[in-house]
Amino acid sequence: MSTLVAGIDSSTQSCKVVVREADTGRLVREGRAAHPNGTEVDPEAWWQALQAAVDAAGGLADVAAAAVGGQQHGMVVLDAEGQVIRPALLWNDTRSARAAEDLVHELGGPGADREVGAAAWARAVGSVPVASLTVTKLRWLADHEPEHAARVAAVALPHDWLSWRLMGGGDLDLLATDRSDASGTGYFDAMGNRYRHDLLARALRREETEGIRLPRVLAPAERAGAGDPALGLGHLALGPGAGDNAAAAVGLGMAPGDLTLSLGTSGVVSAVTDDPVADSTGLVTGFADATGRFLPLAVTLNGSRVLDAACRLLGVDHDRLAALALAAEPGAAGLTLVPYLEGERTPNLPHATGSLLGLSLGSMSPANVARAAVEGLLCGQADGIAAMTALGVPVQRVRLIGGGARSQAVQQLAPAVLGLPVEVPEPGEYVADGAARQAAWVLSGAATPPRWESSDVVAPEAEHTPQVYERYRERSHLVAERPAG
Ligand code: XUL
Repeated sequence: MSTLVAGIDSSTQSCKVVVREADTGRLVREGRAAHPNGTEVDPEAWWQALQAAVDAAGGLADVAAAAVGGQQHGMVVLDAEGQVIRPALLWNDTRSARAAEDLVHELGGPGADREVGAAAWARAVGSVPVASLTVTKLRWLADHEPEHAARVAAVALPHDWLSWRLMGGGDLDLLATDRSDASGTGYFDAMGNRYRHDLLARALRREETEGIRLPRVLAPAERAGAGDPALGLGHLALGPGAGDNAAAAVGLGMAPGDLTLSLGTSGVVSAVTDDPVADSTGLVTGFADATGRFLPLAVTLNGSRVLDAACRLLGVDHDRLAALALAAEPGAAGLTLVPYLEGERTPNLPHATGSLLGLSLGSMSPANVARAAVEGLLCGQADGIAAMTALGVPVQRVRLIGGGARSQAVQQLAPAVLGLPVEVPEPGEYVADGAARQAAWVLSGAATPPRWESSDVVAPEAEHTPQVYERYRERSHLVAERPAG
């Protein structure tokens, strides 16, 4: 019988497990379990969901290696006994927006312009802090819950905390992570491959933090350790795991020139590059990937839920929304949705709200509203792509994945709005697949991940409609300049 590996994706909304053959990548079985809603979650709920998803996938008794991919940035703070101090603050929790701004200003020095601080952060860790990054959540903790901040003995992220639990937990020395997730903390320098304790100390308002345990940063195919015998997992090798975007890049087999647009809860534009980027405008974060390269990335907070909200507004399901959108003309007869329904991160407008602009007797129809929702969602992503190309990141084609990519309207309109060739791989669990592929790589010990057959793609074609994005840019700038109400 062939050797089996498991990939786990602990995402914002659920936990998914795939079990695949290590040599071929053939899917053998899978399972999933839901996560609670909210931007503040007790990590124990992820652990329960992981166990339920593993059970649903037939268990790990016959699996040789596993790795965990997970939502990035979530702040999991542990005390000296390894107990979780407070519920985790997730990447999409915006309460630390003020802390992010404070940190940016402080690094520039007293009296300096914001740009000076932003450039200093970009140089130090490849990214300018926004509310999503862990470092800002730690500053929020220091300022709002100093009694909790004082007890912090270790800081983990969702994926490394779950890997640690699979290894039995308890001993903080066993905490391990990988470059990709470490690079999303805001206190790890992916170029120099080292933690920046000075920045961690700044966040926590401590003199120094050398005593705080941070997960060991493993090489791409290095073993994190073995599963916990008490869980019946003593036979299991654990890979380093990865942040979800880096795991998806492994699952998709991304190479330089590919740009992945993932429309999940967030909209993520990412590309694999050989060289790091350091964007002092803060639009692109200079993360590492899971194979030893880099993964510049731009995230919008408003992904597929823009479509969910449009469905609710119009009282239709997703298929009907797509049909309505495709029945309207490009540009929705002048209607533009600026989809900042949850504030926004790219551009950095954490307190913004969305706007529907250009309402007229002609434009105010269900079809135009549906069209404006799909175009607005895609234009928000086009902002991310423009920020990447402005840094010289090569973009030859776009791979469209995630729940939002299942919409026929998103598929058909993406090449029109983005003006780039678009490929839609079969819907799949690319994060979990990437984690499984990493687990197989850990077993093989080879220089590169094993070759697995890639999925079929459809390549929708449409005429470029640049006027849609041009008008969106004009109007979204107006919204950005307006104070949030
Ligand atoms: C990346 C980010 C999101 C989360 C979603 O910076 O915040 O993509 O990783 O899970």
